[in-house]
Amino acid sequence: MSDREPDSAADGSQVARKRIVVGVGGGIAAYKSCALVRSFTESGHSVRVIPTEAALQFVGRATFEALSGNPVQTGVFADVPEVAHVRLGQEADLVVIAPATADLMARAVAGRADDLLTATLLTARCPVVFAPAMHTEMWEHAATVWNVATLRERGSIVIEPASGRLTGKDTGAGRMPEPEEIFTLASLLLERPAALPRDLEGRRIVVSAGGTREPLDPVRFLGNRSSGKQGYAIARLAAQRGAQVTLVAGATAELGDPAAVDVVHVRTAEQMREAVMKHVIDADAVIMSAAVADFRPATVATSKIKKGADEPDTIPLVRNEDILAGLVQARRDGTIAPSTAIVGFAAETGDATGGVLDHARTKLARKGCDLLVVNAVGDGKAFEVDHNDGWLLGADGTESAIEPGSKSLMASRVLDAVAGLMVFE
Ligand code: CTP
Repeated sequence: MSDREPDSAADGSQVARKRIVVGVGGGIAAYKSCALVRSFTESGHSVRVIPTEAALQFVGRATFEALSGNPVQTGVFADVPEVAHVRLGQEADLVVIAPATADLMARAVAGRADDLLTATLLTARCPVVFAPAMHTEMWEHAATVWNVATLRERGSIVIEPASGRLTGKDTGAGRMPEPEEIFTLASLLLERPAALPRDLEGRRIVVSAGGTREPLDPVRFLGNRSSGKQGYAIARLAAQRGAQVTLVAGATAELGDPAAVDVVHVRTAEQMREAVMKHVIDADAVIMSAAVADFRPATVATSKIKKGADEPDTIPLVRNEDILAGLVQARRDGTIAPSTAIVGFAAETGDATGGVLDHARTKLARKGCDLLVVNAVGDGKAFEVDHNDGWLLGADGTESAIEPGSKSLMASRVLDAVAGLMVFE
């Protein structure tokens, strides 16, 4: 079978089979690369793992061979008739280095070719992704800062590391993002190779995501089916495009915090409103992808509502404030900068009075935001699934369809439009 023919992923879906090189540097995070290799093979891709000699101190060759189903070498003199040090790079559709140590990035910048991995980096012409992992001091050292900037200037993607627990007791920036997150970003590059430019550097963006939960009593709430995946994808990508991102996260499908994003966890619509209003001051853009409850129970019982004589027949509701409308009003009042771009989302179904886009245009005019991201819902679309499609409606009358694809792909289209809205001095 040719490497370009569709193959079956572990979940039975058809994917275009790509050639992926996973390079593994010599750091403790090397153990996480095993999960990454597995994700690629389970998605139906052909994977070659190229560790450095140092990486094999952390994970054995046999583990990588078993997970990838391919031989694993570290030196340029292995497999000489096959000219592996040239061929693997030339033929790859994507190279992902995880973990990328300070030393490995320095060698890549210097153009060294003293092992199979660095030789492969010199011959690769596909997207190359580095997922750094090191101690905070090494990440912040001028040499590493310069190496990262140089790799990015040359067109490589250097993922922003996460903050958090490093090896031992220390914490700080430099932790490798979770394998699932690296896989998500890598998969996006397979869908759209130019999806991660550094065009949002210096920008401040607030994103809301997930559903809100409106309490009824200490154990019950009114909620909705939003998984938060779309908003998380936007926050993750905005950070990887260089923005300083605050994610105001409501209830989600137990999603991990995206790397390099400040996450504020809230529960109710009122808590979400307070957090968005606080963080939007000085922001360049605010993206309201959360499914905010329109109503909340008028009263919250202090103890659990019981069956019996006192049980309520109905639950009176009161209207929650519209956060998006409040943002537009705050911009008019001058509470937030007039240049702040405001983006809303609309999940719509067609009905007897009009189609999805008719309702969306009315909503855009009513809400007064700059851009409305429109999803058609119903029939298993948009909620709790990994794929999305829709439209972008601009207040200036522009209208563009977003092709079906992953929520990351949709996020990248939304951010392209948001980048166009922001004023660049
Ligand atoms: N939204 C908000 N505050 C609310 C309700 C909604 O900020 N209390 C935002 C959502 O985050 C989304 C946009 O408004 O960006 C559209 O949400 P939607 O529920 O579709 O709009 P509604 O005004 O509630 O319209 P509908 O009458 O169709 O429910």
